[in-house]
Amino acid sequence: MALQIGDTAPDFTATTTQGSINFHEWLGSSWGVLFSHPKDFTPVCTTELGFTEKLRPEFEKRNVKVIGLSVDAVSDHERWADDIEATQGARPRFPLIGDADRKVANLYGMLHPKASTTLTVRSVFIIDPSKIIRATITYPASTGRNFDEILRVVDSLQLTDTHKVATPVNWKPGEDVIIVPSLSNDEARKLFPQGWNEQRPYLRTVKLAN
Ligand code: BEZ
Repeated sequence: MALQIGDTAPDFTATTTQGSINFHEWLGSSWGVLFSHPKDFTPVCTTELGFTEKLRPEFEKRNVKVIGLSVDAVSDHERWADDIEATQGARPRFPLIGDADRKVANLYGMLHPKASTTLTVRSVFIIDPSKIIRATITYPASTGRNFDEILRVVDSLQLTDTHKVATPVNWKPGEDVIIVPSLSNDEARKLFPQGWNEQRPYLRTVKLAN
């Protein structure tokens, strides 16, 4: 069965552009984003990897380590990094797994045979410091992902882990959030003394203090 939200992220040891990595050890107490690319030296992947490197400081601010994967060898990843740097203005400084034997791709269900029997789809796994999968995203090879959205999901997960709130459609950090319906108004008054906007008893939005 496919990996689901709430499952423990499977551990593995793999060769990467930063040497051999044991995934759980490498994650340590950080959050993690593991994402797959169909193939090296392909255009969409080239743009994704350059952009992810540019976003790396934003991931680091949130205590998130990023790690990419494609089913080519590490030696190919290294040659490809030259092209990524030349065309995107950023050379990936995060590890890229060389998964030529598809061990990790199979472990994480990144091969969808009806899409391709040899190349992975664009999978994303967001993993928390307890190694639990908290979100998954899957795109086809022809559609580049929105890495700002991946950061946004991390922001939502980290916020909702520490406050009794959920984030509404298209929410961005700093915008109003939703008080979880399981919290009574009496309980909410203690947590949100600033008050809230109640459009329905189940739809209460609140501005969080900074
Ligand atoms: C790409 O990254 O551009 C790509 C990779 C595989 C299939 C289609 C596009």
